[in-house]
Amino acid sequence: MGSAALLQDGFGRPITYLRLSVTDRCNFRCVYCMPEKMQFLPRIKTLRKEELVQIGAAFVALGVSKVRLTGGEPLVDPNLPWVVKELADLPGLEQLALTTNGDRLGLYANELKAAGLDRINISLDSLNPKRFAELTRTGSLSRVLDGIGAAQQVGFERIKLNVVVLRGRNDDEVLDLVRFARRESLDISFIEEMPLGSISEHDRKLSFVSSDEIRAIVSQEFPLTPTTETTGGPARYHRMDDSPISVGFISPHSNNFCSSCNRVRVTAEGRLLLCLGNENSVDLRRVVRESPNDLETLKVKIREAILLKPERHYFDLNEAPQIVRFMNMTGG
Ligand code: GTP
Ligand code: 5AD
Ligand code: SF4
Repeated sequence: MGSAALLQDGFGRPITYLRLSVTDRCNFRCVYCMPEKMQFLPRIKTLRKEELVQIGAAFVALGVSKVRLTGGEPLVDPNLPWVVKELADLPGLEQLALTTNGDRLGLYANELKAAGLDRINISLDSLNPKRFAELTRTGSLSRVLDGIGAAQQVGFERIKLNVVVLRGRNDDEVLDLVRFARRESLDISFIEEMPLGSISEHDRKLSFVSSDEIRAIVSQEFPLTPTTETTGGPARYHRMDDSPISVGFISPHSNNFCSSCNRVRVTAEGRLLLCLGNENSVDLRRVVRESPNDLETLKVKIREAILLKPERHYFDLNEAPQIVRFMNMTGG
């Protein structure tokens, strides 16, 4: 059965990629992501591990071929390897990926690989230990570097680093991070900061660095050739002549990639969020709690909900954030 056409939104976009947030909790407090004194959800409000798997299974049954587990930080949830194992076994799922801050990968990389995880993206905003601690407020660079090493050692391939670039904080490390990625054979993506949730630590208008500017910095030392590669996501990928790694740029402000969007998100609370830049959502937690183990009902609700996916996002740094949710609710 050709599954690509199973789930389609009102604009004819096939939905084949689910980003599933397993928890809103995180052991870091990155300055662009959340306030220092973050209030997390009471546990009863977040999806239980069985509910996560039911929701994942319904999407895969509807033709979703890629699932990315996000947080908060997914590895603060000790059930994560179990969730990975259950999802990895679903027929029709081609790629199961994880986005993590890397802090606990040293402990879990092996178990995750054995459970069937295919890919890992790791956030890394600085290679300077003091700065890393400042940007993450609670993180330790050496633990994350150990985590990256562990993921490489157990055989994960095409590991990708995510860097959020902030002016005056880490924009001078762009080349160092690319050199590190080249040396370690890691893909790397640079991300423009997005106005999700109010933060007081810095003014997002002043900290903003565009992808064009970052690309110009990288090109000073490493000429980049744009490629047509895509994950159906927002990143524009580039290659270098003398290294196999890819360099991506995610530009929600300067590029509009919405017309080819193939993804939806489920928040830690079980809200099906149809676009990162809009608040409209559908409560799937209620569906799984009212009709547990009823895959068909869940599939019907998802199919109806997908028709509400908006055409595009609107981010404007000159206005107060329209989105009250912080990134840790959705994992990006
Ligand atoms: P792939 O699965 O390989 O496409 O990974 P990815 O780069 O999309 O995923 P990752 O979890 O590593 O996220 C990297 C950054 O991309 C995060 O900051 C996300 O918020 C951002 N991002 C991912 N999808 C979208 C999207 O649909 N819209 C916007 N504006 N940003 C996104
Ligand atoms: N803008 C852009 N990226 C963000 N991330 C978290 N908050 C923001 C934001 N406001 C990034 C993290 C991680 C990815 C999942 O999202 O650094 O790499
Ligand atoms: Fe945690 Fe990721 Fe947010 Fe940093 S960006 S605080 S690691 S959820």
